[in-house]
Amino acid sequence: MRVGFIGTGEIAAAMVRGLAGRGHEIFVSARNAKTSALLADEVSGVTVASNAEVVAQSDTVFLCLMADVARQVLPDLPFRAGQAVISVMVDVPVTDLHALCAPATDIACTIPLSAVATGGSMLPCYPASSALETLFGKTDTILPVASQSALNAHFAGSALSAPLIALMQTGSTWLADQTGDPQAAEAYVAGVFAGFLRQMQTSGADFDTLLQSLATEGGLNASLKSHMQDTGAHDALIAGLEALKPRLGL
Ligand SMILES: NC(=O)c1ccc[n+]([C@@H]2O[C@H](COP(=O)([O-])OP(=O)(O)OC[C@H]3O[C@@H](n4cnc5c(N)ncnc54)[C@H](OP(=O)(O)O)[C@@H]3O)[C@@H](O)[C@H]2O)c1
Repeated sequence: MRVGFIGTGEIAAAMVRGLAGRGHEIFVSARNAKTSALLADEVSGVTVASNAEVVAQSDTVFLCLMADVARQVLPDLPFRAGQAVISVMVDVPVTDLHALCAPATDIACTIPLSAVATGGSMLPCYPASSALETLFGKTDTILPVASQSALNAHFAGSALSAPLIALMQTGSTWLADQTGDPQAAEAYVAGVFAGFLRQMQTSGADFDTLLQSLATEGGLNASLKSHMQDTGAHDALIAGLEALKPRLGL
C-alpha cells in the first residue's frame, strides 16, 4: 500500500517504524525535518515529500498534526474521494475531519501510542476502518468503538500511560536507592508487570484475579495498596481523569 503521514513527529515516527519491512511505499511530510530525514535513512521505502505530495501519492493518509495546525493546513491539501484518511489527533472530531478533508469520505480516528512501533499495541478506532485493519490488524489489536464519545473516553484512558509508568519509575528508583543498582531495579519492576500482563493474556485473568492473588492479609502488597488508597492516590487518579472530560466533550 502507499501510505502517507502528514506531521512527522513522535507518533508518526512510531507508526512508520511499526510498518517497516512490510513492503509499503511510505511518504512522510518534511516537517519535522530531523525526524523525516531519520526515518528515510532508517526505514526502507520511506520518501520525504511536501504535505501536498504526501496526500497526492498515498492510498491511505495518517494525520499526525497538532489540532490547530491541522485546521490550518488540511483544507488546502488535495484529498481524493476513495482515499482513506486516518487521524490520530485528539481535539479534532471525525465530523470536522469530513469538512477538512473533503472530498475524502473514508475517514476514521485512532489512538496509537509509542508501542505501535514494535507491535502488540491497542488501537481504538472510530468509525471502523478497513485501511487501519489492513495496515495494523496483523501486528496490533484494532478495537472498534461505537461513537465519538467512546473514542474520546479512550483518549482519556490512553492518558493513564504516563502516570502509571511514572509510578513504576518512582518505585524502581526507590528500589535502586536500597540496592544501589538502578538498571537491575528497573528491569525487575518492568519484568514484574510484564509477567502480570502476560498472565492476563495467556490465562484470561482479569485485574480482580490478579489483585486477589496479591491480597494476602498482612502481606506487603495488601499493606502498600491500603496505604495508597488511604492517602488518596486512587481518588487523585479519578479526579485527574474527570478533569479531562470538558476538553474531550464527555
Ligand atoms: N505522542 C503520542 O503518544 C500520541 C498518541 C496519540 C495521539 N497523538 C496525537 O498525535 C498528534 C501529534 O502528536 P505528536 O506527539 O506526534 O506531536 P509532535 O511530535 O509535535 O508532532 C507534530 C508534528 O507536526 C509537524 N508540523 C507542524 N506544522 C506542520 C505543517 N504545517 N505541516 C506538516 N507538519 C507540521 C511538527 O513539525 P515541527 O517539529 O517542525 O514543528 C511535528 O513534527 C497530536 O494531535 C496528538 O494528539 C499523539
